[in-house]
Parts: sequence; structure tokens; C-alpha cells
Amino acid sequence: MTQPVRSVIDILDLSPEELDRLMDTAEDIIARPERYREACRYKKLAALFFEPSTRTRLSFEAAMHELGGAVLSVTDAAASSAAKGESVADTAKTVSCYADIIAMRHPKEGAALVAARNASIPVINAGDGGHCHPTQTLADLLTIRREKGRLSNLTVGLCGDLKFGRTVHSLINALSRYEGLNFVLISPEELKLPSYVKNDALKARGIPYSQTTDLEAVIGNLDILYMTRVQRERFFNEEDYLRLKDSYILTPEKLKKARPDLSVMHPLPRVNEISVAVDDDPRACYFKQVLNGKYMRMALILMLLNLQPA
Ligand code: NCD
Repeated sequence: MTQPVRSVIDILDLSPEELDRLMDTAEDIIARPERYREACRYKKLAALFFEPSTRTRLSFEAAMHELGGAVLSVTDAAASSAAKGESVADTAKTVSCYADIIAMRHPKEGAALVAARNASIPVINAGDGGHCHPTQTLADLLTIRREKGRLSNLTVGLCGDLKFGRTVHSLINALSRYEGLNFVLISPEELKLPSYVKNDALKARGIPYSQTTDLEAVIGNLDILYMTRVQRERFFNEEDYLRLKDSYILTPEKLKKARPDLSVMHPLPRVNEISVAVDDDPRACYFKQVLNGKYMRMALILMLLNLQPA
């Protein structure tokens, strides 16, 4: 019997039990990489990236290579048939003829969902506009579990562009299913968390949260500080971007007020939000997130292709 095709468009497509299993698989990959070297032999991942990316695309590609599979890539929308006016639906049907699984990044919210509805192979959303970014959340969850030993009972500060930052939306959705979470939303007035995320993830579940514009006033209360870049490409005018881009800059000085066991996270790329001097602080976790992202993407590819290691 053939298995139904399963896609991951939203982090909520994965149950907390499945997230646990993915994190356990990632830990096993870290401990015993040799078991996984042939797991995706003869399988192909199509990386369809219609928006800039370094980490997400390369980590999907590295993940597939480390599983013994092959990669087909679109890295430039202008060089693909999208530039001729091809729809996402037709692209998905076409790529289903060549590959076994798709990772898609697209500037339009909902593009990955349209792809999944039209593809005959699994589709992984690698970021759709300002909406969501579930595989960054997989990287974030493994990082939190490794750093803190738990995903429950945490005070999580999210700072920066909470409006357009898709990694923030997916992370809040994922964490809202664990016990004892408390969110501190730190942003300029103009870049507050969209009400659909606030209503669906926080208010509907009765999860405590507070909102502030002042990072320094709250930094001492946090277990996790998740910094984000102001998303220039989603702004309607450059003036607003220039006014808001340096709203928050984390420095060693500001970190003096933080707990010694704080974890500083960032999905990257960083622009100015974290001074380079913070990188040597043992609380800085953002490059660990990068590595964890590769292992979680390996685990997700295996799950969606129903493959087992040797
Ligand atoms: C993020 C994204 O693309 O949303 N980057 C990433 O995938 N790690 C964050 C960002 O671009 O600011």
C-alpha cells in the first residue's frame, strides 16, 4: 500500500509527539552519522528558492547530501519559468516529475500551500513571505531543548520585527503547545506581533504574554532572548525601514543585566541587532541554531519520505 503524501507547510502540521521524534532522530544523527549516510540513496530533493537564502537552502542541500541523496536547485526566480509567468501550481506539478521531495521558499504568503496542493510529492515550506517558516522553528526547538533541557516552563523574549518576522510566528505557534510558557514581545509599535498570531496562538490558549518597547527593562527576566532582523524586503517604504532598523542592538553592556543562563538566539542573517562582540559570550546560541537546523532538516526529510536509517 502506498503511503499518503504528507507536506509540512505550518509548524502546527507536526504534533508535539512528532516534534519530539524529529528531535530524537536529530540527536541520533549527531551521535551516529554513519547510520544515515545512505538513507536517501537514489532520492532527489528539489530546492525551489524564489527568495534569497543562505542557511535554509544550503542546509537543505547539505542535509540531503549527508543522507546520500541528490539535490536539484532553483536559486534564482529570474532564471526559472516563474519569470515567464508560470504559476506555483504548475511548477509544483512539473517538479513532481523530477524529484521525490520539494523544499520551497517564496515571497508570497501561502505559496508553499498552493505547491503542496498541486504536487504529488511532499512539500516543505522553507519560508512563505511574512507568514511562517516551520523548519527554522525545528532548528530553534532543538537548540532550546539542547540548551535548556526542556521546552516547557520558559520565559521567552522575542525582540525586533515581530510583524513580518515569519520565524517568530512559527516559533510562538510551536512553543504555545508546551506547559508553563510566558512570552515577552519586544518591538517598536509599528512592528508588533500580528493579531492573528496573538489571537490563535496566545489568547485562544490562555498563554500569558506582555508587550513592551523596552528590551533593557525586561532582559533580566528572560530564559531565552530571540532577536530578529527588521525585514527590509517586506516594508512598503525605505524611510520607515531606515527609521526602525536599529531599534534594538544587543551589546555586551546590555547583556550584563541578563541572567547567566540566558540563551541568546537569532535565526540569522544578522544585520545590526546583535553586536559582533556578543558572539564570544557563552550565552550566544545563534551559530548552534545553524548547525541544529541541518540535523532537523535531515530528520524531517527522512520522516516525510518514510525512510529509516541502516
Ligand atoms: C530567516 C527568514 O528567512 O525568515 N532566515 C532564515 O531562514 N534563517 C530570518 C530572516 O531572514 O531575517
